[in-house]
Amino acid sequence: MRLAFEAVSYSYVGGDAAKKRGRKKQRERQADWGNAPDALWALRDVSLTVEPGEFLGVAGHTGSGKSTLIQHMNGLVHPTCGRVTADGADLAEKEVASRVRSQVGLVFQYPENQLFANTVYDDVAFGPRNMKLDEAEVDRRVREAMELVGLDLDAIGERSPFDLSGGQQRRVAFAGVLAMEPELLVLDEPVAGLDPLSRADFLALIARFHARGMTVVMVSHSMEDLAALSDRILVLSEGRVFALGTPAQVFADAASLKAVGLGAPAPQAFASSLRDAGFSLPRELYDETSLAVDLAAQLAASAPNADGAAAVAAEAAAEAESAGEAETASTEDASCGAPNADASTRAGDRRG
Ligand SMILES: Nc1ncnc2c1ncn2[C@@H]1O[C@H](COP(=O)(O)OP(=O)(O)OP(=O)(O)O)[C@@H](O)[C@H]1O
Ligand SMILES: [Mg+2]
Repeated sequence: MRLAFEAVSYSYVGGDAAKKRGRKKQRERQADWGNAPDALWALRDVSLTVEPGEFLGVAGHTGSGKSTLIQHMNGLVHPTCGRVTADGADLAEKEVASRVRSQVGLVFQYPENQLFANTVYDDVAFGPRNMKLDEAEVDRRVREAMELVGLDLDAIGERSPFDLSGGQQRRVAFAGVLAMEPELLVLDEPVAGLDPLSRADFLALIARFHARGMTVVMVSHSMEDLAALSDRILVLSEGRVFALGTPAQVFADAASLKAVGLGAPAPQAFASSLRDAGFSLPRELYDETSLAVDLAAQLAASAPNADGAAAVAAEAAAEAESAGEAETASTEDASCGAPNADASTRAGDRRG
């Protein structure tokens, strides 16, 4: 499914009511913010497409319109001006919105706050039941979704979701969205508030969904996470599209990002300072490992005892590369395949 925003503006003041007042009034309002921007508009003239299969990261200062934007993606919120289409069909039409709602899985920020059912099972089953699927299919989906997020249905299915740890609650909420088997997964700061291990685990899970072909839109305040995962990054500022491009393109201009309250990923920012200081660092986008490798090579080439230094640098570079691989491997180990039974048992013990 290709999702397109066509000149979308949105105002919480009036919201859908403003739409009913007709196009003339809208044009007047649009002219208003065009000349004298004020807080009236949460989104201003946003045009973009979410391409099938891509990972689109969404960044922006607090209040820049990220959450408002993504709530347009499943027809939860309708544009005050402009339109959102799914494969050309306008989400303002009821039938289109209801079809798209089952294809677009929207995971709100702190989704655990929206758990409500008496048991974990019923919570995860809520979406599929709403889709009027028969109970056998509902059951299949609940089992699969729980397995995907690494939770043991037999162990916790009949428990109250409110008795679980925060991280487990988030997984349950996530499973509830996955059980609807969406084509497009839209995540609003999915790892906010998680401890570092759960964070890495969750990001690896999201990366796996994307690797399987799912389209992902992820809002995040972490430039490192966005750089590592995204095919393209959208930067919003005061409701407008400030930048849209590959991570290398978006993070190339650290100064202009700073002007809208954002930083580049730390290794990228460091590489940029080193370039200013005269280092030749040719890669467009740096992470810790690639920066260590290129920096070591530079230092070796410029050292007085170049041969000896080169050997030291080559060793350092090899170490950095293998450390990077080990890091990746351990992240994958922590999240792949069957849930980590030991860890969840220990967590269960602690809760007593
Ligand atoms: N329910 C609402 N009623 C009125 N104004 C709202 C509402 N929700 C958001 N806004 C306003 O709309 C603008 C965009 O808010 P939005 O929540 O989309 O920003 P955000 O980029 O998601 O911010 P954050 O990073 O803090 O989550 C802000 O000016 C905000 O104050
Ligand atoms: Mg938000």
